[in-house]
Amino acid sequence: MRIILLGGPGAGKGTQADFLCEHFDIPKISTGDMLRAAVAAGSDLGVIAKDVMNSGGLVSDELILDLVRERTMLADCRNGFLFDGFPRTIPQAEGLMELGLGIDQVIEISVSDDEIVERLSGRRVHSESGRTYHIKYNPPMESGIDDISGGVLIQRDDDKEETIRHRLAVYHEQTKPLIKFYLDIAKGDSKLTCSKIDGVGSVDQIRERISECF
Ligand code: AP5
Repeated sequence: MRIILLGGPGAGKGTQADFLCEHFDIPKISTGDMLRAAVAAGSDLGVIAKDVMNSGGLVSDELILDLVRERTMLADCRNGFLFDGFPRTIPQAEGLMELGLGIDQVIEISVSDDEIVERLSGRRVHSESGRTYHIKYNPPMESGIDDISGGVLIQRDDDKEETIRHRLAVYHEQTKPLIKFYLDIAKGDSKLTCSKIDGVGSVDQIRERISECF
């Protein structure tokens, strides 16, 4: 199973990815997590990506496609994979097609901009695992601590209101056109299903709506 989760920043893609990955026994490929790991490691890619990410802009399509090409060649992708945060531009989606990796399901999680600002300003993450919490809507058992590992939770540098607004503008301009892109492909490709779900509700309700897409 090859899945793409589409949706604005903070729509809940990362939160919902885990149960799908477990269910289908596939890895989550989050380009955001991969870039943050590169920044933390201080690699050449990390040095290039750091300022772009902190400003809420997009890292170049070439670098992202290189990352995805290498990642999807690993053995754990033999059953498929779930993309979280990729593709994010039409050239990235076209590059993915050129890799010959046909997609089975594109799921758009739809959430309003105002809701997104509230969600992201309350988000806390466990950097090592990518597990995500919200101080009000999805709190950890102990404040500031990851439920599974006991590690410390942090607030992402790009989760400040001004940066969130810029990320939203970039989403509307460059990523939202992908919805029509995939709907058009689905018209001529019976293997691809595109679904749109309302992303407002409890985490469990959204999970239920996503499950019904399969
Ligand atoms: P990335 O890490 O991909 O960020 P994003 O797409 O902006 O998405 P988020 O991780 O912010 O949100 P999410 O939808 O996963 O929401 P979450 O589940 O955490 O990218 C970061 C940066 O890297 C980009 O800005 C760019 O610079 C660069 N980058 C990455 N990929 C790239 C690419 N392909 N090309 C170019 N550049 C790239 O949920 C958010 C919050 O809401 C959490 O606190 C959560 O607990 C809470 N929440 C979740 N569900 C609910 C609910 N139902 N109700 C209430 N709260 C909820």
